Amino acid sequence: MMKGFRAAFFDFIADPFYVTESESVRYFSDGLLVIKDGKVEAFGDYEALKDEYLEVPITAYPGMLITPGFIDMHIHFPQIEMIAAYGEQLLEWLNKYTFPTERKYNDKNYAQEMAGFFLDELLKNGTTTAVVLATVFPHSVDAFFEESSKRNLRMIAGKVMMDRHAPDYLKDTAQSSYDDSKELIEKWHNNGRSLYAITPRFSVTSTPEQLQLAGKLVEEYPDVFVHTHLSENRAEVAFVKELFPDNKNYLDTYEQFGLVGERSIFAHCIHLEDQEFERLSETKAIIAFCPTSNLFLGSGLFKIEQAKSSEYPVKVGLGTDVGGGTSLSMLQTMNEAYKIAQLRQQKLSPFQAFFLATLGSAKALCLDDKIGNFDVGKEADFIVLNTRSTPLMALRNPEEVPNTLEELLERLFTLVIMGDDRAIQSTYIMGELAYEKSLIA
Ligand code: GUN
Ligand code: ZN
Repeated sequence: MMKGFRAAFFDFIADPFYVTESESVRYFSDGLLVIKDGKVEAFGDYEALKDEYLEVPITAYPGMLITPGFIDMHIHFPQIEMIAAYGEQLLEWLNKYTFPTERKYNDKNYAQEMAGFFLDELLKNGTTTAVVLATVFPHSVDAFFEESSKRNLRMIAGKVMMDRHAPDYLKDTAQSSYDDSKELIEKWHNNGRSLYAITPRFSVTSTPEQLQLAGKLVEEYPDVFVHTHLSENRAEVAFVKELFPDNKNYLDTYEQFGLVGERSIFAHCIHLEDQEFERLSETKAIIAFCPTSNLFLGSGLFKIEQAKSSEYPVKVGLGTDVGGGTSLSMLQTMNEAYKIAQLRQQKLSPFQAFFLATLGSAKALCLDDKIGNFDVGKEADFIVLNTRSTPLMALRNPEEVPNTLEELLERLFTLVIMGDDRAIQSTYIMGELAYEKSLIA
C-alpha cells in the first residue's frame, strides 16, 4: 500500500559547509512524498508528480514544513532523569550525580520503564535516530533495544565499558566487558533497525587492557560503531595525560588500540590539538558537537570552523548529551551551536545547522543509504514542523510557506532560535505516525 504527504519539504543533497545553498538545499514549497512499505517511493514537486499517483491517499499539512527526522549524535538514556544537576564541572558532576543515577539501571524493569519514557520524549522532539550510551549493566542495553524495537526506531546504542576510576557498584572488568559486549553485538547489531556501538566510557575509566579488548571487538565486528568521549574538559585532559604518559595525545589513547575509524564517534572534542584534528580527518572519524552540554558543564567552545576546514575536514554531527546537555530538542541544540559560533566570531547558518542534524550525521555514520534525506529508497523517518506553534512564533512568521531559499533560511532561523518540542507537529517512523502534538496546549 502506498501513501502520500503533501506540504512544503526541505532536505539536503550536499554539505552546505562546502558548497552553496542552492547546491546543497532541496526545497519544494508544494511538494509530494510518496511512501511504499515504509520507504520513499517518490519525492518532488506536487504538480509534477501528482498525475502518476492519482490513486494514492494523501495527507496534507498546509502551511507546515516537512524534513527528515533529526539524528542526535550523542546522548545518555539513563541520564534523562538527572538533567539540570546543579553546580559542577565534568569530573565532579560524574561522581556527584551521574554515577549514583546510573546505579539504578541495575534493575531491568526500571531501565525498561525509563527507556520507554526516553524514547517517547525523543519522538516528541522530532529525533528519530540517536547514538545512545546505556549503562555498565548489559540488561540496560537489552531494555533500551527492546523498547526501541517496539517503536521500530533506527537506534545505535551500547553497554558502557568502565573498569577503573568509578565506584565499585558501577565497574565491570576488562574481560566481562568484552564478553558482555560481544553477546550484545550478536544479539542486537542489525537486529531489525538496531545497531550496536562498542562504548568505552572514556580513557579515564578504562584500563589499557579494557581498551585493548574493545579494539579486539572492532577487529571481530568491523561494521559495529565505537562511541566514547574525547577532550571535553581541561581537568579530564590533564588526567588522561597522567594515566597515559607515553601516548602522543588523548586521541592516541584510543587509536593505539584500534578504536579510531570511520564508524567511531567522539563526543565533545573541545580541547584538541591540531594534530588530533588532522588524525580525525585522516581516519574519517566522527565528532559529536554537544553545545548545550559544553556550555552547561563549562567545558569550552567547540571549534566548528576547524572541524569543517577544507584542508582537514572532519565529519561532524550534533548531540544533545543529555543529562550533561540541557535539552532533548535538536532545535535548541542548534540554537546554542549558533551562539557558540557567535562567541568565536563564526557564523553557523540554519541550513548548516539542519544539515548537521540530518544528512550530515547520516553521512558521518555511513547510514546515508538508509536515512538523512528523501532520496528514493530511503527509510521514511520524517517530521512535520510548525513554524507558528506559539503566539510569538505566529507573530514572527507569516502564514504562507517560504517561496525562495532566502525566505526559507529566515524561517528556519526562527525555528533554530525560538523552536523546541512545541514546533514538532508530528513525527513519522517508516511512514507511520509515531507522535502527534496534542491540540490541547
Ligand atoms: N565523560 C565521561 N562520561 C561522561 C558523561 O556521562 N557525560 C559527559 N558529558 N562526559 C562524560
Ligand atoms: Zn556524554
